[in-house]
Amino acid sequence: MERTYLMVKPDGVQRNLIGEIVSRFEKKGFTLVGAKLMTLSKELAETHYGEHKERPFFGELVSFITSGPVFAMVWEGENVISTARSMMGQTNPAEAAPGTIRGDYGVQVSMNVIHGSDSQASAEREISLFFNEQELNNYEKEVNKWV
Ligand code: PPS
Repeated sequence: MERTYLMVKPDGVQRNLIGEIVSRFEKKGFTLVGAKLMTLSKELAETHYGEHKERPFFGELVSFITSGPVFAMVWEGENVISTARSMMGQTNPAEAAPGTIRGDYGVQVSMNVIHGSDSQASAEREISLFFNEQELNNYEKEVNKWV
């Protein structure tokens, strides 16, 4: 069973979108394995976004993601990494299809509501960066036999 790291960004938290976003992934049929509201340190933000450090928007990205609490989550399910990315929509909300999270709630690329791991390798890296083993719950949901 696959796991991914998803994070409601500070704009999503400020705009009261945590419940709506959690609800979308629950209703889809994925299982929440861990979650917490946290404010990222500059060091954690720079590590998380390390692969983008040469890009012109890196400073803006780090200052945005540390500007207020984020809602960090780990979700589990079949193909959850790529399905969650589809449910999020294109990085730039202006290009994201209606019905996706960014298509429905975002306007500009610098505040695009949600982050999601883009591969198995980033999911593993990001989950271990934000959560320790005790914060991740291994459990079965009865309803999953219908999903
Ligand atoms: S992706 O999804 O990784 O392919 O997107 P990418 O275009 O590589 O962008 C990487 C992250 O940087 C954010 N981003 C920006 N932030 C501020 N300003 C500008 N112009 C900008 N362009 C991209 C984008 O939201 C990605 O953040 P995450 O959290 O990974 O979605």
